[in-house]
Amino acid sequence: MATASRQQQTLQLPIVATFTALSSSSIHRNEGMIMKVHRLDRRGQIDNLSLHEEPVPRPQRGEVLVRVRAVSLNYRDLAMVYGHYFPDAPDGLIPVSDAAGEVTEIGEGVTGFTVGDRVMGVFNPRWFGGDYPGTAAYEYGTAQDGWLTQYKTVSEEGLVAIPPSYSFEQAATLPCAAVTAWTALTGPQPVTAADTVLTQGTGGVSLFALQLSKLIGARVIATTSSPAKAERLKMLGADEVIDYTSNPQWGRTAKELTGGRGVDRIIEVGGAATFAQTLIAGSDRAEIDAIGFLGLKDWGVEYMDLFNGGFETIRRIRVGSRQDTESLLRLLARHSLEPVIDSVYPFEQAFAAWHHLNARANFGKVVITL
Ligand SMILES: NC(=O)c1ccc[n+]([C@@H]2O[C@H](COP(=O)([O-])OP(=O)(O)OC[C@H]3O[C@@H](n4cnc5c(N)ncnc54)[C@H](OP(=O)(O)O)[C@@H]3O)[C@@H](O)[C@H]2O)c1
Repeated sequence: MATASRQQQTLQLPIVATFTALSSSSIHRNEGMIMKVHRLDRRGQIDNLSLHEEPVPRPQRGEVLVRVRAVSLNYRDLAMVYGHYFPDAPDGLIPVSDAAGEVTEIGEGVTGFTVGDRVMGVFNPRWFGGDYPGTAAYEYGTAQDGWLTQYKTVSEEGLVAIPPSYSFEQAATLPCAAVTAWTALTGPQPVTAADTVLTQGTGGVSLFALQLSKLIGARVIATTSSPAKAERLKMLGADEVIDYTSNPQWGRTAKELTGGRGVDRIIEVGGAATFAQTLIAGSDRAEIDAIGFLGLKDWGVEYMDLFNGGFETIRRIRVGSRQDTESLLRLLARHSLEPVIDSVYPFEQAFAAWHHLNARANFGKVVITL
């Protein structure tokens, strides 16, 4: 079904007033109510997402009901749509990993939250700390429903409180992109003010990495695809910017900018598209944080390029745990960091948000409000 006809269908639904009434909900007021949700009927294309009406769920023991107020899209959500990430995902799931909202009902035994609390989801609700649990199946939208829905029941352990100064839209940008940047910059070898960090592109992860690196006091060399985006990166605090479209040898340029030593930390989001240059940009002590796969084609790296490459460690990043999320939130409660929001779409225009992210025209996060 085409996007426009879905939106028309949405407008015909006589449920808007009902949801307004629920905004001041107390226990059990959602009985028999209907919500709107998007589901990915099958992988392949954005138009395989479809709008459904479903009963508002009731929280079970240990769960809370969240009225979702904002979600943010990540490239990972698009990769799910196209089948490039977690290909074993069943058809029909609600997509999207990141959301913020307010608690409208609590289940039996809930102790951490009460009605009216402002909350956001933890990206991986079963990873509390310590070793990675070994599967992406616990993430939202992979083997369980995600957040592109007006209401969602969640175990209270899968939620954290939003910093008071953050809006729902801002908080919804944090669970995946910001936590990923944070774990990449900290981890076993934290970046220090003496380091140079290389960020790639102007997506969610990279802009949070730039902002957090500047908060730490590090020097940042950023890459991007156009002069206009380069200007915006400088305004955000990038010390140097390299346009990888006009300068395909950007790895060598980054190394020259460090006096030939090489950069210390690389926020590697391009994958096959960037890895060959990343190996040139890094110092002998560099940590490459293997994060993304924006380019999936032939990566052009020979074994000896890897062997002689500029790095000491290649660290695989898997967003982060609840503990990582909490430590980032403690930082954000004390230091001002305004998430870069590219655009905000109402739920009725959710398809346009997906297409906008797909066009790679975004500078920062794409948000949908509900
Ligand atoms: N492992 C993890 O824990 C983890 C966590 C989060 C995200 N990721 C992955 O990290 C990557 C970035 O995610 P995101 O959500 O931040 O993406 P995003 O917001 O969609 O950002 C995409 C941006 O990256 C740049 N870009 C696009 N294609 C590129 C290419 N071939 N080479 C270099 N830059 C390119 C573009 O900016 P410019 O025009 O400025 O270049 C584009 O706007 C994705 O592959 C995602 O799946 C992994």
